[in-house]
Amino acid sequence: MEATTPVQISGLNHWFDEAGERKQVLRDIQLEVKAGEIVILTGPSGSGKTTLLTMVGGLRAAQDGSLRLFGEELRGAPKQQLTRLRRQVGFIFQAHNLMPYLSALQNVRLGLEVSSTWRGRGRRAMDARCREGLEQVGLGHRLHFMPAKLSGGQKQRVAIARALASSPSLLLADEPTAALDKESGRDVVALFRDLADRRGAAIVMVTHDNKVLDIADRIVHLQAGALADSEVKTH
Ligand SMILES: Nc1ncnc2c1ncn2[C@@H]1O[C@H](COP(=O)(O)OP(=O)(O)OP(=O)(O)O)[C@@H](O)[C@H]1O
Ligand SMILES: [Mg+2]
Repeated sequence: MEATTPVQISGLNHWFDEAGERKQVLRDIQLEVKAGEIVILTGPSGSGKTTLLTMVGGLRAAQDGSLRLFGEELRGAPKQQLTRLRRQVGFIFQAHNLMPYLSALQNVRLGLEVSSTWRGRGRRAMDARCREGLEQVGLGHRLHFMPAKLSGGQKQRVAIARALASSPSLLLADEPTAALDKESGRDVVALFRDLADRRGAAIVMVTHDNKVLDIADRIVHLQAGALADSEVKTH
């Protein structure tokens, strides 16, 4: 169904101002991500991966070209529409972005409080889901720890649980396994695969982690702001 394709990008260009000059960071991007599909985005540092991901999530305004989320055009969309669309998206940022004064469980609950499917659900149901989510990333014994008392990899796993808790229809993950050892990295991408297979979520993940590349349906490569030919994987 064309209209509900999670991500449809065509002719997307983006510029940043750098010392008074307009510097192009994304060039004529064409990309489509279907429901149930995991696309891995690779490319050198500075090639535009994070910029592209934040635009797909509606966190950065599209300047030129077309970027559709679930069939709705983001370029020029009013704030309310962007907010509504963002509620269907789970984000895992390159830096984990946990709230320092909230426990692991409270951080995960924030992920539910902003999601369209969980808003208004009771506190007990939310907490049960948060606990389950933290257990899935191996942090059942750290529910009430503050971020400062967690290791880098544990903080990253809290951020992953926060993004996954609401079972978002679109998951955007920027180097989610960078701070994790091989086994926890594999566990995390298995959760992603499950979300894609069972819930039909579309997933875009930036990674350089060779240990998780095989989870992808497709690997696309960004080079100086342009997408190179994609490698099609067969499971
Ligand atoms: N807010 C900004 N203002 C100006 N320039 C920016 C901004 N954010 C990023 N850039 C520039 O845009 C280019 C792409 O940055 P981006 O963060 O998207 O790269 P990346 O592929 O995610 O790199 P990395 O692998 O290091 O995370 C870089 O040259 C960067 O300096
Ligand atoms: Mg980046």
